[in-house]
Amino acid sequence: MKEKALEALYAQIKGCRCQCPGEREGAGATRDYGNPDAGVVMLGEAPGKEEIKQGIPFAGQAGFKLNEYLQLAGLQRSDLYIINTVKCRPTKNNGRSNRKPNRCEISSCARWLEEELKILSPRVIITLGDIALKQFAGNSMRISDYHGRPLVRQQTLVFPLYHPAAVIYRRALDKVMAEDFVKLGRWLAQIKPS
Ligand code: URA
Repeated sequence: MKEKALEALYAQIKGCRCQCPGEREGAGATRDYGNPDAGVVMLGEAPGKEEIKQGIPFAGQAGFKLNEYLQLAGLQRSDLYIINTVKCRPTKNNGRSNRKPNRCEISSCARWLEEELKILSPRVIITLGDIALKQFAGNSMRISDYHGRPLVRQQTLVFPLYHPAAVIYRRALDKVMAEDFVKLGRWLAQIKPS
């Protein structure tokens, strides 16, 4: 049921031609093969080059890190469903590099995200990084203040985490991430409906 609705949504996103500044590619080109019925959604930022190539979120370097951290939480990718805040790959240098999504891209993709969340109707959203946290929990939220601290937003439980790519650039975050993922695993076990 959800699969069909998601397929239809991704087909619609593929037709999206946003007029925002900046170059980009691959709107709607990625979709997760995790569990849309898990009630747990992980929200990233935007796909990168490898994700567009493979058609799957978190298929590149950040994805390898994410898989390692998920193990610390006792989770596999099939225990959740991964989506992105922005539905295309924001690029620069004629597609050679990724860039951060701009405000226009984030707000123009908000309607797709809203539709996707309506279909998935998760009980829990795990946000990865600043952009995902702000989009879902408000612009004043800073990941450095809220990582590893569950919140409630619009009747949904939100668990904010740093983005796994941040660890690639800031090695010191590795320990913090590992601790937060262990916390996430314990918290999910506690809130599981009996
Ligand atoms: N980073 C993200 O935020 N999402 C992806 O799908 C890949 C890398």
